[in-house]
Amino acid sequence: MAGPVSCRRQPLPRQTGSDQEVTCALPSRPQGSSPYRKHRRHALCQTLAHLYRMGPEIWQVTYILSYPSALPSFLGDISHVEVLGQHIIILNNVNVAMEMLDKKSSSYSDRPVLPMGGELVGWKNTLVLLPYGDRFREYRKNFARVIGSRAAMDTYHPTEEIETHRFLQRVLAKPAELSQHVRHTAGAIILRISHGYKVKEHQDPFIDLADRAVDQFSMSTATGAFMVDMIPSLTYVPDWFPGASFKTKANEWRVTLEEMVQKPYQFVKDQMAAGIAPESFVSNLLEGRTLSAEEEHIVRWSSASLYSGMLASLRGRRTVSAIYSLFLALTLFPDVQKKAQAEIDAVIGSDRLPNFTDRDSLPYVEALAKEVLRWNVVVPLAVPHRVAEDDVHDGYYIPKGTLVIPNIWFMLHDPRTYSEPNEFRPERFLGKAPETDPRSICFGFGRRICPGLHLADASVWISVAMSLAAFDVSKIIENGVEVTPEIDPSSGTISHPKPFKCSIKPRSAKALELIQQDPVY
Ligand code: HEM
Repeated sequence: MAGPVSCRRQPLPRQTGSDQEVTCALPSRPQGSSPYRKHRRHALCQTLAHLYRMGPEIWQVTYILSYPSALPSFLGDISHVEVLGQHIIILNNVNVAMEMLDKKSSSYSDRPVLPMGGELVGWKNTLVLLPYGDRFREYRKNFARVIGSRAAMDTYHPTEEIETHRFLQRVLAKPAELSQHVRHTAGAIILRISHGYKVKEHQDPFIDLADRAVDQFSMSTATGAFMVDMIPSLTYVPDWFPGASFKTKANEWRVTLEEMVQKPYQFVKDQMAAGIAPESFVSNLLEGRTLSAEEEHIVRWSSASLYSGMLASLRGRRTVSAIYSLFLALTLFPDVQKKAQAEIDAVIGSDRLPNFTDRDSLPYVEALAKEVLRWNVVVPLAVPHRVAEDDVHDGYYIPKGTLVIPNIWFMLHDPRTYSEPNEFRPERFLGKAPETDPRSICFGFGRRICPGLHLADASVWISVAMSLAAFDVSKIIENGVEVTPEIDPSSGTISHPKPFKCSIKPRSAKALELIQQDPVY
């Protein structure tokens, strides 16, 4: 069991001269009577001390990190906890996150080493857990080439429009299966882009495989789930050793992951050999080249990172899909829905569905898409960055190996940035003084910023525009009573919608006709 959890709220004295001792914000270097030690314990310390008595510290952090909204009022802009000797900093202020993670990105862009999920199962080969270094740069270059800008995304607009149209058809046919349709559509879009693969309508083998792998990713990287994450030397115990069942599990999950990487890759190679491969991320990287083993590793794993990244963004343990949240917002806020539909009707009319050429003419729809990304934060605590070398940041000593977690949830609900932050109000992004664009926050920071951000942005926008043009979304009536979706009160705010029911109906006979038209490539 580690020592007591430490934390601090007020800034400690800063370093003011070169011969002056650097203030140690984190206590890894014992410094006698460090100012940190003298610091007054406040409410969160007491909360932590209370939790400390309740169980192993790793659970305390899991608990705390499950409630990102609870942190800042206790902790201020930078908070620190120590768990089993691991320093963790939580950033609750967007400017501090930019100063640290953007401006000093060469030192703040590594990822934590996760013995179970990363090392034993092998997820450290995908971009999200890949250590910072040459391979990382190669993966990111590949991502940037394919989906790294709004202009690059123009190539994929037809894919987005057609697949989102098919999403409308699936929702029309089975509205109760909304979340499955969201996942299936995301898989259809990304597999087209990454491997030129057209998914099957039901039980697609690649989507099922990726779904299983992403589930196993969540299980294998869950905080505190495996002892080997706390005692990494257990990695080396033989598989037959009593209590080493985690190794059997890791081997099983490794096979799924390898299949998820290899099968779609082989599909492209076979199609290229037969001369029938459509253009894709993988075919572009393979075309006319003889690859070294290292180059082949990079193509296989960066393409797998592309599509597992997209699916993981829809269904990680603490993630909420933006499109699912859209339907929740439309159910809860009928006035917002009506206003957006009125804009679409005025600009586009009712004879066709919106497409990307309409984007600049639909400011309210744009604002609604932004509000969806702000209101129900998709990745509330981003992914931890690991500090690669000792640093002194704004007077705080930050040792190598510290994990830095941007509290994106709070940044997007910070009353200093967003007025009435818990309200769903697209108008905040309109007018002469619009509030901060949430897309500058919700995709993370520095060299680890989400490489799928332009794809995500385009997918969210087209889904918002087409869904609003096609459907009326409202509360369901059960036994004569209108049912308001229950909102998970655990965070004290609307941040994690539970599965909910809503009524989704075509807006008109004309809308029904448009949904039923056959979208073709
Ligand atoms: C609304 C949708 C999405 C949101 C809000 C989102 C958000 C994020 C965030 C916050 C991070 C961590 C950034 C950091 O460490 O500072 C991240 C990383 C990542 N995202 Fe996304 N993401 C979304 C969609 C996507 C999509 C569509 C893809 C794939 C096409 C994707 C692929 C990835 C990958 C591979 C990483 C790891 C990057 C790295 O470690 O270098 N994401 N995302």
